[in-house]
Amino acid sequence: MNTSFNHHCNWKFDELRENIMGIDTEVPLLDGSRVPYVFLDNGASTPSFRHVFEVMQEFMPFYSGVHRGTGFKSILATQVFDEAHRIAGDFVGADPERDTVIFVKNTTEAVNKMAKRCDWRDSDVVITTMMEHHSDDLPWRLHANVIHIGVDDRGYLDMTALRDAFEANSGHVRFLALTGASNITGIVNPIHKLAEMAHAYGAKIFVDAAQLAPHRRISMLPHDNPGHVDFIAYSAHKMYAPYGIGVLVGSRDYFASGDPDMVGGGVVDIVETDQVAWSAPPAREEAGSPNVPGAVALATAIHMLQAVGMEQIAAHEHELVRYAIARMKEVPGLRIYGPVEDDELNEKVGVISFDLEDVPHAKVAAILSVEAGIGARNGCFCAHPYVKRLLQFDEEKAQEITQEILDGDRSNLPGMVRASFGCYNTVADVDRLIEALQRIAAGDIKGDYELDPRSGTWWPIDFDYDFREYFPHFAFRPTPTMTEFNEAS
Ligand SMILES: Cc1ncc(COP(=O)(O)O)c(C=O)c1O
Repeated sequence: MNTSFNHHCNWKFDELRENIMGIDTEVPLLDGSRVPYVFLDNGASTPSFRHVFEVMQEFMPFYSGVHRGTGFKSILATQVFDEAHRIAGDFVGADPERDTVIFVKNTTEAVNKMAKRCDWRDSDVVITTMMEHHSDDLPWRLHANVIHIGVDDRGYLDMTALRDAFEANSGHVRFLALTGASNITGIVNPIHKLAEMAHAYGAKIFVDAAQLAPHRRISMLPHDNPGHVDFIAYSAHKMYAPYGIGVLVGSRDYFASGDPDMVGGGVVDIVETDQVAWSAPPAREEAGSPNVPGAVALATAIHMLQAVGMEQIAAHEHELVRYAIARMKEVPGLRIYGPVEDDELNEKVGVISFDLEDVPHAKVAAILSVEAGIGARNGCFCAHPYVKRLLQFDEEKAQEITQEILDGDRSNLPGMVRASFGCYNTVADVDRLIEALQRIAAGDIKGDYELDPRSGTWWPIDFDYDFREYFPHFAFRPTPTMTEFNEAS
């Protein structure tokens, strides 16, 4: 573990919760009271570790543009920035000689870069899956023939179909691109086994680790291991460092030839009016002035997670998921999508998607927010095909709803509610969720909720937050969007 720029290296698991910024923040409820916020939307973005913020603050007096600045601050910042690359690669077991670590904005940018940087041929195929987040699906579609491997009713990848697709397209598959862990069901894919399969067919594997990296130790394994992961991407905002940076790691050779996907300052060794010599990666792939504070934050968060131990984090989250699922089973009419049996939960990260019979998902999420102070999420979570498959939509129904949405009516927007855990969530957080769900299931709802067909949101009639009380620096519009829609129409 490379920790040379960070001297506090004894983080204990129990210190993580108190280190979460905003852990005690109280939020207003419909009845005028305030309660401590329960944050169960970590799959979208986690809060920041306070230590991460503090280290960034310590760094800021030295903040300076990196690379080629000759002043003290620039030299310091450059060293920090370069060290952050090493730490980000080390976090996923990259090979410092053969891999490069490229800083991007987030996982989405990483996948786009991967797809744009390939020397595609017309017949090239990318095999991906039905369980992908759109970020690991749409970028490939712009460049290659994409095949989506199906899933079973509980959301597991169809391994037979995957092998068949490799067979049927033998010689043409450039990448198997798939998620390390699903942002809907939390299912962890066997990435090394899948890497072996991809390599056996002459393809490379790209792992979208946006949901895996915050929860599990990752090793790309050595390049000569058949289970080696060729490329991997993750986002700092999902691992307690939400300051605008993401990471793409993979074979240096892949980025060492061809034009960078984005050009400008920072990517060149020399420019003449009629010729350009690109720099070596990662500089070649990091056009423009980089996010140095973000890199400091990411490296500090990694340092904290590594010091505590990813195994300990995984074990805690596993217990939380087991407990949450057991308690959810007590709620009448609650359906969980994805694995629920004890022996399956080892291979599931802390993401649980569910719905309640007879209560629309958007209404459940709204009630959780305004009547219980719980931050969850609802909808299709940027994985429309997977959610529709889990909801067992047939093609006709899917088409019907698509048409309604295209016509501007989102009343029947498909979706679920999602509770996603971070390393700092507790059994008490789960209990708050379950109590609220029990009340909703029993019809014990205080507000009078109205559906806005244009946005598909439910919201209590005549209820609005006054955000200025909490954050006076910005002007706020009335919430939710329904108010504006009604006024505009
Ligand atoms: C599985 C998965 N992949 C990719 C992404 C995209 O990550 P980002 O928004 O950081 O680019 C997400 C975000 O939720 C995700 O859950």
